[in-house]
Amino acid sequence: METTLKKPSIDISYKPIGQFEETRYEKIHNVIFSNSNEASICVAHEIADLIKKKQAKNKPCVLGLATGSSPIRVYEELVRMHKEEGLSFKNVITFNLDEYLPMDRENRQSYFYFMHEHLFNHIDILTENINIPDGMTPYESAIDYCLSYEKKIKECGGLDFQLLGIGRTGHIGFNEPGSHYNSGTRVITLDHITRVDAAPAFLGIDNVPKKAITMGIATVKSAKRIVLLGWGENKADIIKKTIEGEVSSHVPATYLQDHSNCTFVLDTGAGSKLTRNQTPWLVKPCEWTEALTAKAIVWLCSKTGKTILSLTDKDYNDNGMADLLALEDSYDLNIKMFNRLQHTITGWPGGKPNADDTNRPERALPARKRVIIFSPHPDDDVISMGGTFDRLVEQGHEVHIVYQTSGNIAVSDMDARKYAEISKRIAPSEEAQKIIDYIKAKKESSYDSIEVRKLKGNIRRGESYAATRYMGLNDENVHFLDLPFYETGTIKKNNLSDKDIAIMKDIITQIKPHQIYAAGDLADPHGTHKVCLDAVFESMKELKEEPFMADCWLWLYRGAWHEWDINEIEMAVPMSPGQVLKKRHAIFCHQSQKDGVMFQGDDSREFWMRAEERNRDTAKKYNALGLSDYAAMEAFVRYKFD
Ligand code: F6R
Repeated sequence: METTLKKPSIDISYKPIGQFEETRYEKIHNVIFSNSNEASICVAHEIADLIKKKQAKNKPCVLGLATGSSPIRVYEELVRMHKEEGLSFKNVITFNLDEYLPMDRENRQSYFYFMHEHLFNHIDILTENINIPDGMTPYESAIDYCLSYEKKIKECGGLDFQLLGIGRTGHIGFNEPGSHYNSGTRVITLDHITRVDAAPAFLGIDNVPKKAITMGIATVKSAKRIVLLGWGENKADIIKKTIEGEVSSHVPATYLQDHSNCTFVLDTGAGSKLTRNQTPWLVKPCEWTEALTAKAIVWLCSKTGKTILSLTDKDYNDNGMADLLALEDSYDLNIKMFNRLQHTITGWPGGKPNADDTNRPERALPARKRVIIFSPHPDDDVISMGGTFDRLVEQGHEVHIVYQTSGNIAVSDMDARKYAEISKRIAPSEEAQKIIDYIKAKKESSYDSIEVRKLKGNIRRGESYAATRYMGLNDENVHFLDLPFYETGTIKKNNLSDKDIAIMKDIITQIKPHQIYAAGDLADPHGTHKVCLDAVFESMKELKEEPFMADCWLWLYRGAWHEWDINEIEMAVPMSPGQVLKKRHAIFCHQSQKDGVMFQGDDSREFWMRAEERNRDTAKKYNALGLSDYAAMEAFVRYKFD
């Protein structure tokens, strides 16, 4: 797979903010990149330049480092520069922000392990220059230990550069809400949300430690330069609060507002809720594209509580959209927007045969389409587009469901043991006994044997067949790719490889689809859904010269967590109350994912509830804008390659 090796030319050096109209709501300097890869490379280059500058002066370079998913790509680039460009770390002294408590450094979840795996094992840093809080510090001596950590930072000359991520609680390091602005290195109790976010890595929240040692706010702020990384829509809310909100101990990252050399490096997802991006008409004159106009009108309706067709000139004028009115009057704007939304609604997701399709989301021809629904995990198909799936089958299209990963790690040991015992009761076998013994002896958060993983994958296959049969599909139209990037047996997945892409290309070439549906989840740049989407993009790009690809349209649905904004939606498929129930029953077929699943997140609703509420919500939003009142709606955006 290709990676960008060139140094990106975007300048991330600190600039005082406040003097630009566009950023007048902002209190922290920030730079937004189109993707986290390019942004990470830029940050890595800033660090490398600093190391070299210090080297030239024969001085040590003191770096404060973070763990978590955000800095991984930065470390990868530093390692690459070491290996390919001879960047030396001999003058580098590092201090890590934090470590769980208690935590053995040999434990794969320890930050000690993380730092060695991602950085230290691959560079020439001197072991004695690596400082990571000791997760086995006895409680009685913790205060002394923390003071000595602080002292050592000072003795080394203080932090030249501090790299940070940000938690959804607004924590930096593990300075959770409530942290004091002048706090030093200390023991802290982790916030519940932080533990929920860490739960997948620990295979369940019960295994996540409750305490940690963290550098304090004052320790972090003593750094001469601070760069905070924020990737993905999941971080958008907390980034907005931190950059635009009041300084408050409820959002500890806001303490960075008065640092004189701090930059937030963001991708478009993380920066999407900043006022200048969310409602740009409130901060500057805008270039009114069709997409921006749609976004502004939907916002104006929710602001005024009106339907599209009842918006007046005054509404536009009072809400920062006078320059839009200068281009077109409100009557035309309203009608155009109403029609645009009206045209997204269709009960014929595969196109309506023998109908004029000028204003329909899909083509009428061919009347019977070949369709691939890519589902990252075995259940996303029915959770995210069960109603549309149902219509496509009912309307006679050749529908293929393609499960990209096995989803094996999301099956609990309890379920796996239950199935192994049933199998043993039917036909006693050594294999079943081996699985039962393995699960009985398994320690908390240790990995599954290959046999256990196989069984767990098979449980999900069985559930998927139950659901797809219920939806009226033949088994030969159901495909399981078990993409290799996922098969690590742990939450940490491999990068996509040529093998994954070859498997994807193979299934697309076999089916030669007119429509591909894929999960367009961009919220978590490291999550399985995003990797699965990258696999779709990459394989479609590589196949683009194939004649059948000229007729292949890609529709993106959203997974269990978020929905498209109304103004983004290009196809909205309404569901009757009966279809809502049918979808619910199809989701029920995925029994191992019901009732307190392993990767629940901080939303305690089951998947069918989330899906129903989301689909109902979309329908309500359409209705509030003045369109028809449906029970529920599934939403899609068409992705067009350049
Ligand atoms: C890590 C740390 C934390 C993380 C934060 C974001 O050493 O101190 O503050 O930076 O929880 O984590 P990710 O990057 O995984 O989203």
